[in-house]
Amino acid sequence: MRFLHFSDVHLEDGFREVPWRRFLNKRFVGYANLFLRRRKYYARAPQKLARLAEFMEAIDVDVALCSGDYTALGTAPELAHARAIVRPFEAAPGGFVTVPGNHDVYLPDALEVFEAHFGDLLVNDLPELAADGVWPLVRLFGEHVAVVCVNSSRPNPPVFRSSGRVPDAQLAALERVFTHPKVAGRFVFVMTHYAPRLASGRPDTPQHGLENADALLAATARLERGAIVHGHVHKCFALRVPETGVPLCGAGSTTMEGREGLWIYDVEPDGAWITRGRWEGESWRLDEGSRIPLADLPVVVPPARPSTAG
Ligand SMILES: [Fe+2]
Ligand SMILES: [Fe+2]
Repeated sequence: MRFLHFSDVHLEDGFREVPWRRFLNKRFVGYANLFLRRRKYYARAPQKLARLAEFMEAIDVDVALCSGDYTALGTAPELAHARAIVRPFEAAPGGFVTVPGNHDVYLPDALEVFEAHFGDLLVNDLPELAADGVWPLVRLFGEHVAVVCVNSSRPNPPVFRSSGRVPDAQLAALERVFTHPKVAGRFVFVMTHYAPRLASGRPDTPQHGLENADALLAATARLERGAIVHGHVHKCFALRVPETGVPLCGAGSTTMEGREGLWIYDVEPDGAWITRGRWEGESWRLDEGSRIPLADLPVVVPPARPSTAG
C-alpha cells in the first residue's frame, strides 16, 4: 500500500476578502512578514500541487497524507482557497488524511474556521477512542496499516511564539489506540504537524518546537512498526532517534521554492520503504535511488553539548 506524504504547502492567497479588523493582532506582523520575505517562495504553490495530484495518480498512491500548514494566517478566505486547491487529493483510492498546522489555527478565531472547511476530512474510524474533540483520529487501511493523527497545533497569540503541544488527553489516549484490537499489530503512521526532533536529532527551540516532544516519542516507543510523520520544519528529512523505535519523517515544505520535498511510503506486510519525491521545475519525480527500508534510516544521536559547569 502506497502513501504520499506532503506538508506545509502555505497557499498564501485569499487576503482580498479578509476584513481589515482581522489584522489588528498578530496577523499584522504575519502579513508584513509575508510580503517582505515569504511570498516569493510560495508564488508557484498552486501549480506544484496541481502537478502533485497528477503525480499521485501516475505512481498509484493509495492514500494521501498532509501534515498541515495549508495557509499563512488561517483566515476563512485562505482556508476556503486552500481547501479547493487540495480537493484533488481526495481522489486517492483510500482518501486524504490531514491535521491542521499552526498557520491554519493562527489565532483563536481560526479553530472553528478550519473545521468548517476541513472537517469533512476529519473522519475517525474509532471515534470511541477520541479524547479531545476528534483527536486522536484513527484511520484503518486494509488489514495492515493505521494512520493515527494527533493535533499538536494551537493558536499562538504572542507574536514571536509558534510552538505546539500535544494535549495530555490525546497523549494518554494513544496508549488505548495502540493496544486496541483493531490497531495492534498494524504498521502505524502517527501524524502530527510539529517535529519531535530536527534533522540533527536535537529538539527544536522552545519558541518554535513541540513542547512535549519527549512525551510523544515515549508514547510511540511501544510501537513495533510505524513512523511519525510531520511537517512544520521546512526541510525534508527522515531519521531514527534513540528515544523511539519508529522513524521520524518530515516532509518539509512541499511547495517552498528551492526546498520542495515529499515522501512516498510503501508499506507491505513484510516491510516498509521510504522514497523521496523531487520537484524538477515543472513536474514531480520519484527518486528511485533514494528508496530504502524505513528500518535502515540512520539513527542520529546529537553530540553532547559542551558543559558550561565550572
Ligand atoms: Fe509551515
Ligand atoms: Fe508550522
